[in-house]
Amino acid sequence: MGRVLVTRPLTEGGTDPLVQAGHEIDIPPAAPTAAELVSLAPEFDGIVTHLTDRVDAAVLDAGSVGNLRVVANAAVGYDNIDVGRAKDLGITVCNTPGVLDDTTADLAFLLALAATRQSTDAERDLREGRWEGWGFGDHLARDVHSMTLGLVGFGRIGRAVAQRAVGFDMEVIHTARHDTGLPGYVPTLDELLKRSDIVSLHVPLTESTRPLIGAAELAVMKRTAVLVNTARGPVVDENALVDALEDGRLYAAGLDVFAGEPAVNPRLLTAPRVTLLPHVGSATIGTRTRMARVACQGVADVLAGRTPPNAVTS
Ligand code: DGY
Repeated sequence: MGRVLVTRPLTEGGTDPLVQAGHEIDIPPAAPTAAELVSLAPEFDGIVTHLTDRVDAAVLDAGSVGNLRVVANAAVGYDNIDVGRAKDLGITVCNTPGVLDDTTADLAFLLALAATRQSTDAERDLREGRWEGWGFGDHLARDVHSMTLGLVGFGRIGRAVAQRAVGFDMEVIHTARHDTGLPGYVPTLDELLKRSDIVSLHVPLTESTRPLIGAAELAVMKRTAVLVNTARGPVVDENALVDALEDGRLYAAGLDVFAGEPAVNPRLLTAPRVTLLPHVGSATIGTRTRMARVACQGVADVLAGRTPPNAVTS
């Protein structure tokens, strides 16, 4: 049986596939630092990582000197892993697609609602004792229903967000790297940005999306528009976003992800009309448990000589 490092504790029952397959599981008392991960890698056959673990060439090279055969990221995004290097070394990398779409789509919609209705500012006023009673002209925001929702990226999560928009009577348009052939497809990002009242980002972080939304793209958006990011922080140029919010060139933003996580650009903390959440897109008990199990099953598959369906290296 194999030895598997799980870099941080998973939700209850998350390691079941490894336990059932009889593997030895090591969960260190604290998440390993980058240097610790390099020295631990050769000792294990498989590693279950999190999006906060940097699995770079140094880790993979060290692992390949030992027995490392698989790295399973307990996340759908895997921009923290050097997949090219893993491929070269014959180490399988897998992720957790499919099990967090609805939960993440729920959160994207929450941010769309919160940012558009300005509920963060309204709640802050209440909590900080500034609410003096119902006021006809107070806390006036913008509508979500009947607006145009623009989805950048139309994979599983983007499509789940589109489903939610039906109940809000929204027009939904999307753009993607390839023509989806589906109703609502627009061929360019610019056209989508020009037409949308709410823009929600659902693209992976790659060299071509770092950043995808900068000053030029923000300038194309409506002044009344709202930007929602549940993808990855560096997809948006945060300073350009704050400039647009401060200058009133963009109405509002809802962000669950940040370029320097866990550090948050201090300008965002004081920017007007923003709702900020600490990367909780997939954070429900059920979904995190499903993610943990899919990741651990991926490791169990590789150690049993099978290629997991969620391998991103094949
Ligand atoms: C993912 O799985 O990539 C999400 O960002 C986790 O919340």
